[in-house]
Amino acid sequence: MITVILGCQWGDEGKGKIVDYLAGKADLVIRAQGGANAGHTVVIEGKKYIFHLIPSGILNLKTISIIGNGVVIDPETLLEEINLLKKLGFDPAGRLFISNRAHLVMPYHKMIDQSKEKNSKGKIGTTGRGIGPAYMDKICRTGIRAAEFLNPDGLLKKIRANIEFANQLLKKIYNEDELDAEKVAADYLNYQKEISPFIADTGAMANRAVKEKKEILLEGAQGAMLDIDLGTYPYVTSSNTTAGGAVTGSGIGPKSIDKILGVVKAYTTRVGEGPFPTELEGEEAEKLRKKGDEFGATTGRPRRCGWFDSVVSRYACEMSGVDELIITKLDVLDELAVIKICTGYNYKGEKLEFFPADIDILKNVEPIYEEFSGWQTDTTGVREFAALPEAAKKYLNRLEELSGARVKYISVGPDRSQTIIK
Ligand code: IMP
Repeated sequence: MITVILGCQWGDEGKGKIVDYLAGKADLVIRAQGGANAGHTVVIEGKKYIFHLIPSGILNLKTISIIGNGVVIDPETLLEEINLLKKLGFDPAGRLFISNRAHLVMPYHKMIDQSKEKNSKGKIGTTGRGIGPAYMDKICRTGIRAAEFLNPDGLLKKIRANIEFANQLLKKIYNEDELDAEKVAADYLNYQKEISPFIADTGAMANRAVKEKKEILLEGAQGAMLDIDLGTYPYVTSSNTTAGGAVTGSGIGPKSIDKILGVVKAYTTRVGEGPFPTELEGEEAEKLRKKGDEFGATTGRPRRCGWFDSVVSRYACEMSGVDELIITKLDVLDELAVIKICTGYNYKGEKLEFFPADIDILKNVEPIYEEFSGWQTDTTGVREFAALPEAAKKYLNRLEELSGARVKYISVGPDRSQTIIK
């Protein structure tokens, strides 16, 4: 069985908990896109750790974890995570594989990302992890792939050539210090020694597992509205966060996929810049932020908070062909007297039929809301759909109807047991 799990809003939907749960049953967990911009919190013996690159399946000693060809890998972050895992008693040797086709994030990618954000007027609010520039080099065919770690001479040649070019950019366009090519070359040779044993043809491994009918979980990062093609461009990340990205980023063909799970929060959040039609301000936003602990796992930034937007969830479900929805953080709404769902957008007095591609239209739409009475009851202890307050059932049923995908799981707290199967 091959399952894809994807965020269907702007990321941070709480995929981690569901992925942990499903990874426990998987033979193989594959990350297919994104890079160290993602953050996944793991609790080990009561202590919190945040992983950015290595799939959470790594904590299950029987699961093979793969960083697929669609991911951009910052070797420094990767090594920190490998070393942390060793320290915690989860040595990844023999259980972690990195695609030889994955691209490497280089120091100039991070410098350019951060400099652009600092200086340009059209700030995206990126995580500063070099994601955009690394994918730019990939698409431009000037990137350096993990396979180069198996060929140190070739690696050094490419690093020197790329830095010669990057230094021109850094100095002349971005007004930043130049990089010392020999220092970067020495650092990457050190990474090379430690990372090479993990490099493999992971597409071939994945397809072998497909033939052997293994349980495979394709773990998406970020969310549908941050998709480079289909999201709220230009306020997006630089990879395909929708189902297509899981296919191209893992090397598994689309016909092999059995199920696509979409994850949405019972409300909406977004980090970084860009339009957010149902965004709340002031006290209402603060209530959700506080109760939902809405602060970025990678950057610590407070997340923008708002009502559930079914225009977004319907669009996201369509784009990825979502079979089942997972609703997270329902309990965050427990105390509210009134809850709203956005059912459509008005623009210049007319209802829009489709999710607008034009960012200037999206910035100016007026959400159409349906209001629901809050249940004002603690749901964190509920384990069956039937036992939920009537008002919560009504809210969830409407959310399901508007999104166009069946709700399968509802999460009512961070613990694995705090999950309702519908
Ligand atoms: P980048 O991926 O660092 O280039 O950032 C581009 C946009 O995607 C910014 O708005 C980020 O806040 C957002 N973003 C990137 N990764 C995540 C994530 O894991 N969760 C939520 N937002 C993200």
